Amino acid sequence: MTLASLKYQQIKAVNIDHRSYLSAEEISEIEHETTLLEYREAAGIEALKIVQKNRGWISDDSLYAIADLLQMPVSQLEGVATFYNLIYRQPVGTYVIHLCDSISCYLTGFESIADYLQQELGIGFGQTSADGLFTLLTNACLGGCDKAPVMMIGENHYQSLTTDSIKAILAELKAKANGSKEGEQ
Ligand code: FES
Repeated sequence: MTLASLKYQQIKAVNIDHRSYLSAEEISEIEHETTLLEYREAAGIEALKIVQKNRGWISDDSLYAIADLLQMPVSQLEGVATFYNLIYRQPVGTYVIHLCDSISCYLTGFESIADYLQQELGIGFGQTSADGLFTLLTNACLGGCDKAPVMMIGENHYQSLTTDSIKAILAELKAKANGSKEGEQ
């Protein structure tokens, strides 16, 4: 599965009242964004980010509720969500790995890194690992071509990747996730 198919969904024709779906905090944060902009619909991308931060991804219901709050057509908001590749329209893992497959990274080992990641995680691109920790995606240039190969996880960019560095990164993220689970118990 590719990023495009991960993002594409047939949206059901439903109306959702944002007041019965979004939390008071989400509404307040989104309303704050609208005060900074000339038009309510211009807050679409920030609204998507706010809801995704809380819920992990953007379901159809979330899309409808945000469109209702911003008083904009859902098709327009879906266009924004589809264009922006950090908005996920299906459930994803705790960590979403965006591995750059553009030219510099491709020439400096993309294929072997991609093979290694798929083998280590036991998944293909567009899939999420069985433990729910990792989703693997390709991405266009991440802006670190002089330090290729590059991947992004959350807000962190990892450069000059090797199989050894990836092994350490995955181990660190797994330990972090396990640590936070234990902290919740
Ligand atoms: S080509 Fe990979 S970061 Fe630019």
